[in-house]
Amino acid sequence: VDEKTPSVTLGNRSLEAVAQYIKDGRAGRIVVMTGAGISTSAGIPDFRSPDTGLYANLARLNLPYAEAVFDISYFRKNPLPFYTLAQELYPGAYRPTITHSFIYLLHKKGLLLKLFTQNIDCLEREAGVPDDLILEAHGSFARQSCIDCKASFPADLMQKAIREKEVPKCLQKGCRGLVKPEIVFFGESLPQEFFVQQWLPEEADLCIVMGTSLSVAPFSGLPEKCREVTPRLLINSEQVGAMGSRADDVLLLEDCDSGVRKLAEACGWLEELESLWAET
Ligand code: APR
Repeated sequence: VDEKTPSVTLGNRSLEAVAQYIKDGRAGRIVVMTGAGISTSAGIPDFRSPDTGLYANLARLNLPYAEAVFDISYFRKNPLPFYTLAQELYPGAYRPTITHSFIYLLHKKGLLLKLFTQNIDCLEREAGVPDDLILEAHGSFARQSCIDCKASFPADLMQKAIREKEVPKCLQKGCRGLVKPEIVFFGESLPQEFFVQQWLPEEADLCIVMGTSLSVAPFSGLPEKCREVTPRLLINSEQVGAMGSRADDVLLLEDCDSGVRKLAEACGWLEELESLWAET
């Protein structure tokens, strides 16, 4: 779709038009889809940015290929690279960004239908987004279990193992299987909840995609589930997926934190957003 194609819903494909659409009360059900790019300014590397991304910095683990560190079949053979990395990934030491607070602000204004996140850092929850509005499509460190008998494993023993870079083993008699946090590895299926909730974007009247390369299915298919008349806003340093292909797509190709500040300002919410984030 080229710039000349008139947009059906927004009138024109600009940030101001998205803000006007929100101020006119036409975006009562906003679905947000996020990836690691919304946490980089918190100090957590994303995966695929050249140089700074996690996959560009795993040489010390001498993996056959970078994503092996999150591959279930490789983990079975050699769980140590993951446990070496887990210490750096483990949530708790990071502060939510203003982008996380923006999502919380949408909820405070009664506009957030659902947040689909690929992140395992739990920063959305720390920013105040209620649990029932968050779908952690790639799981999280909140729980851990044996990959063979599925028995759950105590959190305190997991934290000890991660601190000491040890590989925890199942405590069930006669099992001794490997224990893994319930983050979704390549080769594992997403939580059942994802397949139930994945149709929610059809009910949305605005879709905001932030900080993701949209390179991992089935999450990457979520923005396509929005109706054609639903405006879709991408806030990301680069164009990704099919964002920009529809008449009501708006691309804000810049840093998430500056993009959400611009949108908040256009909505008249900037002061409220800044003070919300200051309290986080
Ligand atoms: N502002 C805006 N965009 C950013 C920023 C930022 N501060 N930092 C990074 N980005 C962009 C990058 O340009 C890239 O397009 O965010 C995107 C991050 O993409 P990835 O590193 O691929 O992260 P993500 O999309 O979350 O990865 C998806 O891959 O490894 C698996 O399961 C893992 O959930 C992860 C999935």
